[in-house]
Amino acid sequence: MTRVFSGVKPTGHLTLGNYLGAVRRWAQVDQYRSDALFCVVDLHALTVDHDPGRVLRLSRQAATLLLAAGLDPEQCTVFVQSHVDEHARLSYLLECVANDGEMRRMIQYKEKSARERERGGSVRLSLLTYPVLMAADILAYAADEVPVGDDQTQHVELVRDLAVRFNQRYGHTFVVPRATRPKVAARVMDLQQPMSKMGKSHESAAGIVYLLDEPDVVRKKIMRAVTDSGQEVVYDPENKPGISNLLEILAACEAVQNSGAQSGNPEALSGVHTTYGALKKDTADAVVELLRPVQQRHKELMADPAYVEGVLRRGAEKARAMARPTVDAAYRTIGLLPPA
Ligand code: AMP
Ligand code: TRP
Repeated sequence: MTRVFSGVKPTGHLTLGNYLGAVRRWAQVDQYRSDALFCVVDLHALTVDHDPGRVLRLSRQAATLLLAAGLDPEQCTVFVQSHVDEHARLSYLLECVANDGEMRRMIQYKEKSARERERGGSVRLSLLTYPVLMAADILAYAADEVPVGDDQTQHVELVRDLAVRFNQRYGHTFVVPRATRPKVAARVMDLQQPMSKMGKSHESAAGIVYLLDEPDVVRKKIMRAVTDSGQEVVYDPENKPGISNLLEILAACEAVQNSGAQSGNPEALSGVHTTYGALKKDTADAVVELLRPVQQRHKELMADPAYVEGVLRRGAEKARAMARPTVDAAYRTIGLLPPA
């Protein structure tokens, strides 16, 4: 059976971008058709300036939200990265396979390190090596597919390169994974800055819809979304990024409501609305309805933290048992003396 692995970082509250680009597919499609693992990748949240208490709270919240979004522990493995040592163990070996040049070429590293320096801060070494840890996450489980949003394409390419290089240099050890992306909403844009991705750690929350935003907050944010010059509602990401983003979000919501599949088509929605205002209203309604059951389930799960803890404990046990043989094999293949 196909093995799937993906993860989400607890660096901020989960957004509509996380949901449409990744989590919804995990819950509605991937967990049923594959042997899937989904992970709160908390070690990745330590690569930038962080508040320990906040990371802890966000990790718990992210895990709860993954379950609220429909991940079923009977169907897939849900766990927290730092509960399974194999990730860090394998990461070191892969650091011995990766080159510093290829790490410095990562777009996310360039952007985040530039931002950090602008603020006068220092750049953590782990920000540079981050994609190696991500490679370890994926390769430890011999994953075939990695369902992610658009922004992770380059990272997954690097993971593939590292797997191929290790296999060629030392002998076949790793499955070479591939990224899978949603047909629609692979890159949800910020409602206030439709030229940049809706990211959970952006400074201004006005352009970000969080999964736990109250319905009136969701409505307000969408009704105030920046639109483009002109009046025609057409899908044209280059010239009409604001409107196209709304069409993309609406199409993605309709896809889930109609069939649970990836059937939404933003181009087909061009011309359906006669005004920007009407499009915003429909989009706001659709997003509120999309989030309603997730929020409801989240509330129920919040009342039962022992359940969530139990899921994570069993998830980590299962994950450990899956990762251990692959990581042990990598240690042997690369030339390390097995313990007696
Ligand atoms: P992160 O928030 O960076 O941990 O991302 C978790 C998952 O959500 C990854 O698969 C990302 O590619 C995806 N994702 C994050 N932001 C967006 C966005 N704005 N649009 C689509 N997918 C996203
Ligand atoms: N780098 C991913 C992001 O920023 C998060 C991540 C870490 C991940 N490890 C992973 C995603 C393994 C998929 C598979 O979104």
